[in-house]
Formats: sequence, structure tokens, C-alpha cells
Amino acid sequence: MELRKFVDALPIPSVIKPDGTYRGKPYYEVKMLETLHRFHKDLPKAKVWGYNGLVPGPTFEVKKDEDIYVKWQNKLPLKHFLPVDTTIHGAMDTPEVRTVVHLHGSPSEPASDGHPEAWFTRNYKVTGSHFEKKIYHYTNAMRATNLWYHDHALGITRLNVYAGLAGMYFIRDEKEKSLRLPKGKYEVPLVVVDRSFNPDGSLFYPSQPRNPSPDLPNPSIVPAFFGDTVTVNGKVWPFLKVEPRKYRFRLLNASNTRTYKFQFSNNMPFFLIGTDGGLLARPIQVSSLDVSPAERIDIVVDFSQLKGQNVVLQDGFELDSEIGNIMQFKVAKELCAPDRSQVPEHLSTLPPIPLDQVRKIRRITLNDSEDEYGRLMLLFDDKTWSDHPTETPLIGSVEIWELVNQTPGIHPIHIHLVDFRIIGRFDAQGNKLPPLPADFGIKDTVLVDANQTVRLIMKFQPYCGDYVWHCHRLEHEDHDMMRPLIVRPDKKKKD
Ligand code: C2O
Ligand code: CU
Repeated sequence: MELRKFVDALPIPSVIKPDGTYRGKPYYEVKMLETLHRFHKDLPKAKVWGYNGLVPGPTFEVKKDEDIYVKWQNKLPLKHFLPVDTTIHGAMDTPEVRTVVHLHGSPSEPASDGHPEAWFTRNYKVTGSHFEKKIYHYTNAMRATNLWYHDHALGITRLNVYAGLAGMYFIRDEKEKSLRLPKGKYEVPLVVVDRSFNPDGSLFYPSQPRNPSPDLPNPSIVPAFFGDTVTVNGKVWPFLKVEPRKYRFRLLNASNTRTYKFQFSNNMPFFLIGTDGGLLARPIQVSSLDVSPAERIDIVVDFSQLKGQNVVLQDGFELDSEIGNIMQFKVAKELCAPDRSQVPEHLSTLPPIPLDQVRKIRRITLNDSEDEYGRLMLLFDDKTWSDHPTETPLIGSVEIWELVNQTPGIHPIHIHLVDFRIIGRFDAQGNKLPPLPADFGIKDTVLVDANQTVRLIMKFQPYCGDYVWHCHRLEHEDHDMMRPLIVRPDKKKKD
């Protein structure tokens, strides 16, 4: 299907307002709803699932250290409109569609973390084994940054997120405010998701393996999904009118599988100023950035030299193909007001890396395997979701995890509860590789490239309990590249 490029204006997701207070704190109610959404001028409306019916969901704007409460409500139909694979973990044919919400990057208490087995169905009629709370509590006790919330139901996360269940969540603090970075309409969220459409405009998600075999169940899990269009904030190949000045873009890769190499058509340099866990110590000038699923980049782009011109945000991995051009910026000839924003030399102070406190080093392989039907599946240390938990750190302890990717693919690895630092990348022969720009920041998701080893360091705090860690390629996560993370209490300590 030929879709015209850059004919839809980039929508800016609306900011959600509290519905009242709960325990004296801002309280929000969010309903997951099935609605119709127009992804492109030339496409009929498509069925989607959105938080409050919006794709992407409404944006949360909260202050650091200010608690909020959110009641997530599943008001979706009973049946999925995308092909569920009933043969994989957790996706057995239940009468009602399951959902659960995870605030990605937040150190949430276990009952509010959105554990994949804490799913709930329409009107909470059926509950999963970890179901504890209807109203989730977020303390926002972290640096100012850009988190995101999305569905995490066991075995169908890839379908629920692809259907539209994802949104942005900003934490603000005074330090960041004082920096004079571009703000207001000059700070723009960009949620990038590749999608495919059927000729009738409906969302397409494959239900067949690449090489269908008569022995395989149908529909069947696919190990990767690559859309043939790219949506930004819910529009295929949109454009944004900008002034000739600096802009701050808060970019999230919310795609199921695709890793992008973000760059501009004129190869202009721009600044990386922040990563998953907030601002860097210093800005890093780059001309492209690799961003895998669930990673966020905080960048400042200066359009001041491009008066009256157009420039395109591209995917450097796909320059020869249709989808290499993601969105267009139409730069006006005039400024509305002088640009007084700046990119300061010093952005923030990062906490020291606690190399002297390491209590345990784990070496974990990322490997491919086969399921009982002979289909490709991705695993950690050859273990599936239901194997006995092995990652069981002690509360407050510092660990190094060495992730050894023995596969020819990229895996964005995400660990719940914690932020981590990246302390080394190595090739298959053990040679040290140069860090990626994002490796200088605080991270909750790390791009582990084909046949690479990446070393992370993190401290398991502030909560004990049941969490998970997983690959954020959602087709991998669902089958079965996800493992329990159980933070154990320290029995020796009395409190
Ligand atoms: Cu963004 Cu466990 O996920
Ligand atoms: Cu993976």
C-alpha cells in the first residue's frame, strides 16, 4: 500500500489531569478502551486499544518525590482483535482479554509494578496469581526523566502494546527546570512505533511463522515483527512545523522489535542530553543514535541554520527502503520569539558507580532455542519463564550482570525496579568495544548487540519482592525471554 509521506501533522499526546485525590495525593483513573484511530489521512480508521481510548495514551506529568495513585481499568472487549497464540506461556484461551500496566523505569513497590502475572480482565472479573491492587501507587522517587507505561500481560504483551497500550510519563524536578533547556511547545515527545496495515486500514499483525509448517499451531508466535510503516505519536510519517531554533525531543522507541538508527537527512549533529534515567553529566554531540525498543533518548536539535527548509528524521538502518524516512520537520523562516534556551556544559551530577560494593557477578547467556513445536524461541541461560527463579539478589546488594549474547540478533534487556550503569561492552573474542553514547547515562534498558557481551552494575533497592527482567523485543519477551527477578529481604538486618 502506497501511503503519502509527511501529510499528517504530528499530534502531541494530551496531558492527563487527576480525577481527584486519594490518600491526599493526586488520583487518576485510566480506562483501557477499544476505539477507532486514524493513522494516516489516506487510511480508513483502524480498531485500536488505547488508554482512555488514545494512541499513544495520555501523558503523565508528575513532580519528583510526589506520590500519585492510578486506577487502571480494563474496559476492553472480551476477545482480542489480534491473533493470540494460545500455545505460549500465559496466553491460554481465557474468556476475557488480560491486561496489566507496568510503569517502565520506575522503582515501584511489587504490588504496583505490573507483574506479568498480575493481570486483570474486564471489570476485574478474573484475576491472576499476583493480583494485589486495583489502585497502583507511584512514588516518583527518582531523578527527573521520561518513563513510559505500557501493557505487560503474560504471553500477549506484544499484541496489547501493538494494539496501542503505551504512553509517556514525565517526572520533573527543580534542578532540571533551572537549566533553560527548550521547554513548553519547544519540548516535544516522540513515540516511535512501526506498524503495518491491511488494505482495509486495520492493523496487521502476522499470525503465521515465516516458514509455516503443517505441524505448527496456527496462529503462531513469530520471533520478530517489523512493520512496513513508522508511526510517530500515532501518525504514519507525520510532519512537524518548527521554528528556526533549538528543540528538545523526548523520544521513545515503543516498537515491538525494531531498533532504529536515528539521524537527520542533512547529517546535522545534535546533542544527546539524557537517557532512560534522566540527564547525562554533560551533553554528547552525535550525528546518529541507535535506539532499541523501550529505550528513550533526550536530545536537543538546533534548526536555526535551516530557515525555510525541510529536514527529515531518518532511520540510518533503512535508508534504502520506504521506511527509512520517519518524519519531516518543516522549518519556518521566522522565529516567534528569540531562542533563549541553551544546552549547558554541565547538565547533572550522576551518582558514583559502586564498583567497590559488588557482592555478586552473574554471567547470563542470551541464546536461541526451540520450543516443543520446533519454533524458534529466545531464552536466558536456556531457561523459560516457568523455570525455577535464579536471579534472586539480596535487598540493598550491588551486582554486576554480564549479559553474553550468543545470538545474531539485538536484544534490548530491561530489568524492573532498578536503574543500572553500563560498565563494558565486549565482542565475542572478549575485546573491549567503545561505549555507545547512551552508555554514559543512567539506564533501565540496554541494547545488547549481536554476539556482544555487556556488563551492567546495579543496586537492588528499595523494595523486596517479585519483579521480572526480560528482553524488550516483545516477541522475545512473550516466548520466553523473560525471567523472574526476586529481591530477597536481608534477614540479618533488624528493623
Ligand atoms: Cu517496558 Cu517489563 O517492561
Ligand atoms: Cu531478545
